[in-house]
Amino acid sequence: MNWSLSALPIIGAPMAGTGTPELAAAISDAGGLGLLPGGYLTGAALADGITRVRRLTDRPFGVNLFLPTPVDEQRDTDRLRAYADALAPITSAAGVELPEPRWDGTDHFAEKLEVLVDARVAVVSFIFGPPPQDAVQRLHAAGSQVLATVTDAAEARAAVDAGADLLCLQGTDAGGHRGTHCVAAEPNACGWRELLPLVRAEVHLPIVVAGGVMSAHDVRDALDAGAVAVQCGSAFLLTDESGMNAAYRAGFTDPGLTGLTVTRAFSGRPARAIRNEFVERFDALAVPVYPIVNQLTKPLRAAGAAAGDRELVSLWAGTGWRQARPGPAADVVAALTADLV
Ligand SMILES: Cc1cc2nc3c(=O)[nH]c(=O)nc-3n(C[C@H](O)[C@H](O)[C@H](O)COP(=O)(O)O)c2cc1C
Repeated sequence: MNWSLSALPIIGAPMAGTGTPELAAAISDAGGLGLLPGGYLTGAALADGITRVRRLTDRPFGVNLFLPTPVDEQRDTDRLRAYADALAPITSAAGVELPEPRWDGTDHFAEKLEVLVDARVAVVSFIFGPPPQDAVQRLHAAGSQVLATVTDAAEARAAVDAGADLLCLQGTDAGGHRGTHCVAAEPNACGWRELLPLVRAEVHLPIVVAGGVMSAHDVRDALDAGAVAVQCGSAFLLTDESGMNAAYRAGFTDPGLTGLTVTRAFSGRPARAIRNEFVERFDALAVPVYPIVNQLTKPLRAAGAAAGDRELVSLWAGTGWRQARPGPAADVVAALTADLV
């Protein structure tokens, strides 16, 4: 299938907490496809974000949602309590309190789905599971295409069964959360270059690849390997339209921070981040309980961001993070597609 969602085969990754309507709009305006992050937002905030994108561009764009994670099989409360106890001193030292876990959280999924059925955006992308079939059917009826994030062939088959139109195949190089469908599963250590032939042998949907795509050369490689497009996050983090806060920027650009790891310390789900003091202290203790661990560390991360303290915030970064450049997002889209003319 040809890539037909945007003029250029570049998707701007949704980046919850850091991506902005301005970034999504700028990428779409430059000929790519911007994805507005919907994770952590209420339905009203998402509707507001969509309105803001539409004010900035009349090009197609998409929205990303987190699928709610079933928590029943995760109630490992003894280990969770031990992790909360370990977090308590650093949390109170930052002047904030550990919150009570909310086991019934769904990240406002149902209300955001209603917003999207009304908004009729070009693409709705999902992460953290196969999307429910009824949600896919409703989005199709509204005229949206469904892009499902997968990290291996089994997850790709589940996304096909759910009715997805395209897959985002995320390899280990990716910055931020790994989109593994099951929280407890250890993510594989394969990049999209290894994963793509395995997934293409099993499913016949168009595949977008993600993870460490930072240059025109990487884009060319991905298309030559059979991907229809690439999804890039880290490449856009330093752009003018990014919502990166000062603490995150300080850690991301510090040449002295050279270690990258996949850690559950911040949220309970595996995510690739630059190693800072928080990761050094808590990575080994972290428990695979999402979104509860995310709730526990949220006040601390917010306090770190407010204080400009890079040691307390999640420094999400893909393996290519050193190649990220400041400037307009449109320049990044142009650089990524320089070999395609
Ligand atoms: C700061 C940050 C936040 C992210 N947030 C999301 C998100 O909200 N939803 C999602 O599907 N993927 C998210 N991702 C993962 C991206 O979709 C994508 O897989 C990743 O950025 C690709 O790797 P790269 O950073 O090396 O380009 C995030 C990535 C980063 C760096």
